Amino acid sequence: MKARIAGIGAYAPERVVTNDQLSEIVDTSDEWIRSRTGISERRISTGETTRDLAAEAARRALKAAGVDARELDIIILGTSSPDNNYPSDACSVQAMIGAENAVAFDISAACAGFIFAMNIVHGFFQAGIYKTALIIGAETLSKVTDWTDRGTCVLFGDGAGAAVLKAEETGVVDMLMGSDGTKGPILSCTSRTLGNFLTGTKPELGLMTMDGQEVFRFAVKKVPESIEILLERNHISREEIKYYVLHQANERIVEAAARRLKEPMEKFPMTISKYGNTSSASIPLLLNDMAEKDMLQPGDKIILSGFGAGMTWGAVLMEW
Ligand code: COA
Repeated sequence: MKARIAGIGAYAPERVVTNDQLSEIVDTSDEWIRSRTGISERRISTGETTRDLAAEAARRALKAAGVDARELDIIILGTSSPDNNYPSDACSVQAMIGAENAVAFDISAACAGFIFAMNIVHGFFQAGIYKTALIIGAETLSKVTDWTDRGTCVLFGDGAGAAVLKAEETGVVDMLMGSDGTKGPILSCTSRTLGNFLTGTKPELGLMTMDGQEVFRFAVKKVPESIEILLERNHISREEIKYYVLHQANERIVEAAARRLKEPMEKFPMTISKYGNTSSASIPLLLNDMAEKDMLQPGDKIILSGFGAGMTWGAVLMEW
């Protein structure tokens, strides 16, 4: 059996922060941000936690799928900004939505988290172990963002997206995932520095650091490369793909992928302008936007592709 999306849901904090508002706290401008990234605004939490956003997205996905939380066998939550070291946000969400029969755990694959979660569930379904799953990408990146670093703080936003997956005859056709730990330092966030009675230092909370150009180079290579592998090994032509649903990190990365794949931009829907980069939440936020606009019909072939810190990357070829 294959993992099929039975319902999708998303939720982002209400508070909108515009580029002009950011230019009041760092030396930047609306023009610079829009032209370099495609971002106009982002949502920033004024109190809601990662698990709060995740639980609301989950409730919406369950409603869209017509599935009761008690039917869930498994919940996997991808995040790079968890509320706690433990308990996992997935366990918190399990309690918040009353999914008492589900095993729940978080995965750390940064912006590829939603794709990794989907692929793990697909594996469980193929092995016949579970039948109904909830996958979530949820982030409050605003708490790990260095608000004095204009090179990163203009890029990210908070939000969550979730999908209910059911084991069915159609759904995920093929998928791939990869990691390259040697590139870890180009995008990193220490959770807490070392400090104990022996070192004589106090642990401190870490903030995100990034080599933007290296990440850019990595993404414009890996994203089209992964998509091409899926197309070639499944003997699927580009014409058969209705949409490419890419991680929303930067409009220019999406444009570069479209150019390399020789596909028109109309096949690359985007939400980056209103949410910024929401890491693991960006793909389900985009899918939810597409579902709300009725852009997806049963049988449509789409490819999802994400990349992020690790470095990690993943792609899924699926029938809607
Ligand atoms: N506003 C104004 N100027 C800024 C700025 C900002 N927010 N951020 C950086 N700059 C400046 C730099 O200081 C630099 O100035 P200098 O030439 O005087 O040194 C100049 O703009 C160019 O910086 P550069 O880093 O070369 O810009 P860029 O064209 O590479 O764009 C990113 C920077 C971050 C937008 C781009 O590299 C990027 O999107 N990378 C990928 C990041 C990403 O996707 N991360 C998440 C992965 S999941």
